Formats: sequence, C-alpha cells, structure tokens
Amino acid sequence: MIFMEPIIRKRKIEDSNELAHAIALIWNDTYKGIVDDDFLKGLLDNEKTSAERLKKSINDQQDYYVLTLDDKIIGWIYYTLDSDKYEDAAEIHSLYILKEYQGNGYGKMLYDYAVKNIRQKEIQKLIIGCLDGNPSNDFYKHLGGKYIGNHLFREKYIENIYLFEL
Ligand SMILES: CC(C)(COP(=O)(O)OP(=O)(O)OC[C@H]1O[C@@H](n2cnc3c(N)ncnc32)[C@H](O)[C@@H]1OP(=O)(O)O)[C@@H](O)C(=O)NCCC(=O)NCCS
Repeated sequence: MIFMEPIIRKRKIEDSNELAHAIALIWNDTYKGIVDDDFLKGLLDNEKTSAERLKKSINDQQDYYVLTLDDKIIGWIYYTLDSDKYEDAAEIHSLYILKEYQGNGYGKMLYDYAVKNIRQKEIQKLIIGCLDGNPSNDFYKHLGGKYIGNHLFREKYIENIYLFEL
C-alpha cells in the first residue's frame, strides 16, 4: 500500500474552482442549524461567483495555504499577521478540513504550520474566532486557546474569540 504524503502549499489561482466547491461543502457540513439555510444553499448554488472572488483576492491574501493529499485539496488555512479585533495579534480567519479527512491530525498540522510562520515574524499573539454552537470551539480550547469574549459576525451570529499566547 502506498501512503500519500500531505503537502502544505500556497493556494494558486488554478485552485479556485476546487476550493470554492470545498468551501461550499464544508460550510454546509459545519454550519447546518447554525447559519441560515438560505445562505448555505447560496454557497452551493453560487460556486462560480465564489471561485471568481477567490481568484480576485489571490494577491491580497498572501497567507492562504492548502493541504493536499495526492493533489486533492483536503484542507486549508488563511491567516493575517494582524487583526482588527486584537492589538499586536495575528488572526486565523479560516481553518477547515474536509469532513471525511477530519480527526487525522491535519487540522493541527495546518495550525502548527501557521503558528511557526507567525512566530518567525516575532508575533506572540494569535486570535481565532469560532461561531457559537460549532463543536470546533472545543478544538481551539484543546489547542490552548483562551476565550476572551465574543462579537457579532455578519450582524447576527455570535462568534467566540480565542487568544493564543505563542
Ligand atoms: C476543527 C478542525 C479544523 C480540526 O481538524 P482535524 O483534522 O479534525 O483535527 P486534528 O485531527 O488535527 O485534531 C488535533 C487535536 O485536536 C483534538 N480535536 C479535534 N477536533 C476536536 C473537537 N471538535 N473538540 C475537541 N478536540 C478536538 C483531537 O482530538 C486532537 O487531539 P490530540 O492532538 O490531543 O490527539 C476540523 O475538524 C474541521 O475542519 N472542522 C469543521 C470546520 C470548522 O469548524 N472549522 C473551524 C472554523 S472556526
């Protein structure tokens, strides 16, 4: 049996269609009952628009990485070296592993990769938001995140904020 090596690399413009599809799938898996059904359905119906948005933002989103297994995108992480929510902190905006690949250490692998890069920039704080009701809140607590409060996301969803001292 051949074991495939996971690879982390920067997202490319050619990833946009595959990534838009993966984002629509994982949002529908993760946020059913948390985010409005209409919004989730819209993601599935408008993958082309999402792909165009991803293409346009490629130069603005420098730290956007995908995790591939045998050339298939199975996860991704997007972070910035600053945050409008917390001073002197980097922020992870997006961290997802496709449902069928969860629980194999890939989420932690992407998190560790981001933390290594952020530390190299001599940034010692990191924040992550997670929608209330998402079981992934416990993932961030498990990784050592400290709950520091919440705010409204898209004007109606409660997003919990976790702070990591790196
Ligand atoms: C959250 C997510 C990124 C974690 O990735 P993963 O590959 O499934 O998790 P890993 O296998 O890397 O787990 C790493 C550690 O976290 C723990 N863990 C994973 N998910 C957890 C959860 N929901 N609650 C508590 N602990 C969790 C694991 O047990 C493991 O612990 P260990 O290192 O002590 O053995 C992934 O499950 C996911 O994409 N979930 C749906 C989307 C989502 O909610 N993303 C976050 C948006 S804010």
